[in-house]
Amino acid sequence: MPELSLVAEMDDKIVGHILFSKIQIVGESIYDSLALAPMAVIPEYQMKGLGSKLVARGLYRAKELGFNSVIVLGHKDYYPKFGFQRASKCGIKCPFKVPDEVFMAIELTENALDGESGIVQYSDEFNEVE
Ligand SMILES: CC(C)(COP(=O)(O)OP(=O)(O)OC[C@H]1O[C@@H](n2cnc3c(N)ncnc32)[C@H](O)[C@@H]1OP(=O)(O)O)[C@@H](O)C(=O)NCCC(=O)NCCS
Repeated sequence: MPELSLVAEMDDKIVGHILFSKIQIVGESIYDSLALAPMAVIPEYQMKGLGSKLVARGLYRAKELGFNSVIVLGHKDYYPKFGFQRASKCGIKCPFKVPDEVFMAIELTENALDGESGIVQYSDEFNEVE
């Protein structure tokens, strides 16, 4: 989503980016959610807090736009500090074969994922990522 494509600028250049795209959680019902991906900070600018700011700002804006949850497939030790937990705890499954601990979800509003079990359906572009 263009509204959820954010950049980090330093020294008059873009040094980091985060994107969130719309997904659906398909179970007995279908729920709208967001996927956080991709995200990157160029190596010379890593470990300065930029990645954390991008995540925090992105989650804040996602909530402002009315989204209740975000899913991420990523580093298992990085995302929990923002409040992400294993998505499997909420019965949310990944369509790709990945270790359980790398597929995570966060509620942007209290209990947003209660009862929203199902399998995540990403847009087709994600199926082409290897
Ligand atoms: C992941 C990434 C975006 C973090 O950006 P950053 O600006 O360095 O992040 P921050 O400075 O906000 O945070 C650094 C913290 O994250 C931790 N961290 C960075 N990469 C990590 C990883 N792969 N796994 C676990 N922790 C990681 C650092 O150890 C540091 O921890 P500390 O705050 O406890 O010291 C950056 O390392 C990157 O672009 N990596 C390559 C692309 C990538 O992996 N993207 C994410 C795909 S899920």
